[in-house]
Amino acid sequence: MAVIADRCPQIQVTVVDLNAERIAAWNGADLSKLPVYEPGLDAVVGRCRGRNLHFSTAVEAAIAAADMVFLSVNTPTKTKGLGAGQASDLRWIEASARQVAACAKGHTIVVEKSTLPVRTAEAVQAILGASLSQGGSDGAGPTFAVLSNPEFLAEGTAIADLENPDRVLIGGEDPGAIEALAGIYGHWVAPERILRTNLWSSELSKLTANAFLAQRISSINSIAAFCEATGADVREVARAIGTDSRIGPKFLKAGPGFGGSCFQKDILNLVYLCRHYGLEEVAAYWEQVVALNTWQQHRIARLVVTKLFGTVTGKRLAVLGFAFKADTNDTRESPAIRICQDLLEEGAQLVIVDPKVGEAQIAKDLAQAPSGQGSDGGGGWQLASTALEAATGADAVLLLTEWAEFGELDWDGIGSVMRQPAWLFDARATADASAARAAGLKVWRVGEG
Ligand code: UGA
Repeated sequence: MAVIADRCPQIQVTVVDLNAERIAAWNGADLSKLPVYEPGLDAVVGRCRGRNLHFSTAVEAAIAAADMVFLSVNTPTKTKGLGAGQASDLRWIEASARQVAACAKGHTIVVEKSTLPVRTAEAVQAILGASLSQGGSDGAGPTFAVLSNPEFLAEGTAIADLENPDRVLIGGEDPGAIEALAGIYGHWVAPERILRTNLWSSELSKLTANAFLAQRISSINSIAAFCEATGADVREVARAIGTDSRIGPKFLKAGPGFGGSCFQKDILNLVYLCRHYGLEEVAAYWEQVVALNTWQQHRIARLVVTKLFGTVTGKRLAVLGFAFKADTNDTRESPAIRICQDLLEEGAQLVIVDPKVGEAQIAKDLAQAPSGQGSDGGGGWQLASTALEAATGADAVLLLTEWAEFGELDWDGIGSVMRQPAWLFDARATADASAARAAGLKVWRVGEG
């Protein structure tokens, strides 16, 4: 919404939320403290806020005043009830559709921006339609058109992705509504990059794009394990296959598995929908992408234990990076969570460093407050502010997020404060492995046989 406001100064954009604390944070004077850390976002918000970008808790008034409403709420995986663990929880989509139905005035275009199961627009249309029949169709009440406009930005590169998207996708049935939305993007996106489809294709394209991207990561991670077993190097293999123009070089980095709020959620949702439609083999095919990802994370934790003489109980391990990728403070489904949990289970003492993730978030993710070694030999964790501090007295350094600063560490300094024999486990292969080796560390890198 900030980028729309930036590129379309003649359009008033109001972002509304029930959460007053969050809205206050978006309105805060210090732009470096916005609720989401995203490179470049502070500058865009700084340019537009108060001009044509507003943050408010006045949800009803904003809906009433709007010509177009973007539904951009959470659709997490259901944790209980029908489809628990796989289906998307649509309660917030339904609640916001009902609120739009109750508050809209005049003709309102309702845009699904959240990632949704295919055919959700049917439910949104039904809710909006029911309000029409209740209000009486005397011509004075609101009318609606529903569009699907999924978002393809990636965290960390969101502003660039939005300013120069590969494509914008608009699904719908109402030509007037489609052109109204296309007109907004048309202010900065070339016409051939604005794709129009039917509603269901648009909804399904979003799930499919994420499924294909995640599948590439599981594919390369499966080959990484095979490289480790055979003496091949996954980066050489990735380069060799990536130069085939049909395969392409992107998204072939082996690592600790994909995290983030989307890939796993969207694939599980796809799996659930396939089963719903009786497509068991299709469901099982995609389910394996998630299974491989989970396996990769457990595999890395197991490997650390094995290399450290089969036990990490009471051992200090430095963990570099907790966010699910670099340049974000987001930890949702971060591979670091599962790897750290496995090591805590083994009784390790973790010392975690992340440039953007704080103690409260880590405590929530690990379901454990920071502490020293438990008296029962159970694991504990604490935060450190530098890699050197974390590594002091440690048996191993684990690199889990590819923050640029972890590529430039002083391995001589780190090696000299660790307990010997000392290990570097580089799950992203972004540390300077030769410098670490030169400093006397034993090195394991993902996908290096
Ligand atoms: C992903 C998609 O890339 C976006 O197109 C999509 O809009 C978004 O989900 C969404 O549905 O909201 P995001 O999760 O922000 O974006 O980040 P990615 O760059 O896709 O990374 C996802 C995970 O895959 C990270 O944990 C990353 O470290 C991992 N990854 C990525 C690899 O392990 N190897 C790679 O080569 C690329």
